[in-house]
Amino acid sequence: METGITPLPPVADVALPWDRTLDDPVATLADARRRFGDTFVVDGPRHPTLFLFSPAGVRSFYALPEAEASKGVADWMMLTRKLPDELFSGRRTFPAELFGREDVAAYLAQLRAAISVAFDELGDAGEVDLFAFTRRLGHRMGLACWAGEVPSRAARFDALVAAFDALDGSDAFVHPEEMARVAAAGKREERAALAVVEDLLVESIRARDAAPPQDDLFARIVGRWDGEPEPDRSVGIARDVVLVHLGSMSNLFAATGWMLAQLATHPDVLARVRAGEDGLLERCALESTRLGQRSIMLRAVLAPTTVRDEHAAYSVPVGAQIATLLPLTNTTAMPGLAGYDPDRWVRRRLRDDALLPARELVTTFGHGAHTCPAQPFSLAAMCLSAESLFTAYDVSARFTDVQPLPVQIGGVARAAAPCVVEYRRR
Ligand code: HEM
Repeated sequence: METGITPLPPVADVALPWDRTLDDPVATLADARRRFGDTFVVDGPRHPTLFLFSPAGVRSFYALPEAEASKGVADWMMLTRKLPDELFSGRRTFPAELFGREDVAAYLAQLRAAISVAFDELGDAGEVDLFAFTRRLGHRMGLACWAGEVPSRAARFDALVAAFDALDGSDAFVHPEEMARVAAAGKREERAALAVVEDLLVESIRARDAAPPQDDLFARIVGRWDGEPEPDRSVGIARDVVLVHLGSMSNLFAATGWMLAQLATHPDVLARVRAGEDGLLERCALESTRLGQRSIMLRAVLAPTTVRDEHAAYSVPVGAQIATLLPLTNTTAMPGLAGYDPDRWVRRRLRDDALLPARELVTTFGHGAHTCPAQPFSLAAMCLSAESLFTAYDVSARFTDVQPLPVQIGGVARAAAPCVVEYRRR
């Protein structure tokens, strides 16, 4: 087998889920690690992938320079399994630029408005799936933040949600088993959904053009296309908005779902949250994100590079991928990490992180140069969502615990089954 990786670590007799249907890709890779050790290669038709799980291996992974081993290109290769290629060309707005202090304050104000509409929708009592609730809330907040949609219960909001759900780039890693079908259909459904979103967003652009100037993120996105002829301008604005919104759909709603579901099933912790214990909500947000992580961290090799573990320095050629997989380290990197315990966090660090063989072995929002730029915002949004729900409603869980969707590999886990709660206004 010619992978070009030297020295060549063991090559596991497994495939990644885009190349062979796997019921539980995370379990498959966990089993490969047990059999082949902490460093092994999975070969595939497009490229070999070098996996690293040991302390030195994971530390070396996070230190890889972007110019040699690119996260951006790996993400793009992943997302174009699902999203139309034209969505990526010519973008002028990038998610990494959107999280300044003032932006975050504006987003949280929009989240408050979105929560208020969501509670109108819930009414005084009923049943709801917590992950469906957080997903809809994420749409309502995000579209208010970057698409200028005032949170509402209008039919237009449901039309946007349906189209964004059909387009959802996260399906590339949430449902890898679907991607062969998406490719075979030439991304027809995704292109149709993109066209629906674009038409709806063009209405917003026309409304903005006719109204006095506003000072929000949507206005900034619109401003980046000043002077361009139509229809390029409107399509450009709409696609900038689409890519930001799709980015926001990857992790935040799912991590918030884990947080709400775990609070709903841990009445002792919930009682302390309701009593207003200082910092506890954020500890809950971090703990749920740690346990919900199903991310595969990928780097696409663009220039010959070297990555190290305790035994060797591996030369990795252009075209290969380098990876680690969070669910395999987040709960096992030292004893005691398996269960839910928000008190293991002190501010944003693990209380015992000095005992970890490498602190990179436990990951919520990333390490090094690619650490999530939306971390402070995401934590604040998770805390505000949880605090608002549990202050407004008494909640009783009709499930015992959250389990990750087994086919998923990447991002924060979607739930394997609905996490339904009965709620009643307090
Ligand atoms: C609870 C919610 C979230 C979690 C757990 C999360 C997690 C992560 C992680 C682990 C990384 C590093 C990936 C790597 O090293 O390969 C990352 C990067 C990133 N995240 Fe998040 N994220 C969340 C929310 C968001 C949101 C809401 C946005 C934007 C709308 C966002 C935008 C980004 C971007 C642009 C990067 C890449 C940064 C870079 O390459 O320099 N994230 N996120």
